Amino acid sequence: MDDRDSPVVRRRDLLGLSTAALAGAVTVTAPGGAAPAVAAPYAPEQEAEVTPPEDLMREHGVLKRLLLVYREGIRRIESGERAPARSLNAAARIIRGFVEDYHEHLEEKYVFPRLREAGRLTGTVSVLLLQHRRGRELTGRILAATRRTTGARAAHTLVADMAAFVRMYEPHEAREDTVVFPAFREVVPAKEFLRLGEVFEDEEHRRFGPRGFEGVVDQVADIEKALGIYDLSRFTPPG
Ligand SMILES: [Fe+2]
Ligand SMILES: [Fe+2]
Repeated sequence: MDDRDSPVVRRRDLLGLSTAALAGAVTVTAPGGAAPAVAAPYAPEQEAEVTPPEDLMREHGVLKRLLLVYREGIRRIESGERAPARSLNAAARIIRGFVEDYHEHLEEKYVFPRLREAGRLTGTVSVLLLQHRRGRELTGRILAATRRTTGARAAHTLVADMAAFVRMYEPHEAREDTVVFPAFREVVPAKEFLRLGEVFEDEEHRRFGPRGFEGVVDQVADIEKALGIYDLSRFTPPG
């Protein structure tokens, strides 16, 4: 794909245009020598910016879907079926590459230090950091266990590891969404907040290519389809 077509460049171009238009709102002289009038800035079709918390929260949406993949794996193993090793391994690889190496890296580099400096939620941040480390340990074991078809004993350990991961990350991400990210917004000045949005966006495309987040969502959808849990209507209770 041509660089100019990539979402990040497109967004940057639109932002550049609108910022310039707003900063230097075109001055025109009204007919008949009347006082100069300020023309409304030309408003091209604009794509609203993704702010850092929105970025992090949609990444949590990916994590939530991967937790549902783990749940399906647990359900199958516990009901005596074979572990869907290939799908679980694909999910664990996205957790390693997207959630741990990327999303949690952003939290640890940009979010948690700002809260610590401001003396906000310091106890919570310590727990979240410890949970990131425990999560990596669990993911390491899940990756190893799903590299090949697992025997009964290994499947039992795999279930325990996936269950521990789901149990930890449901409250972890919910706390970040409802308490940590709102506090982060409060301690970061508005201008820097917008700049960080661009930093996050650049990092996303550097790591995951032109399609960035959308490409990762497609990979998760493929795993869900392979497991038969993609169709949303499947989860609607009968009326
Ligand atoms: Fe986190
Ligand atoms: Fe998070």
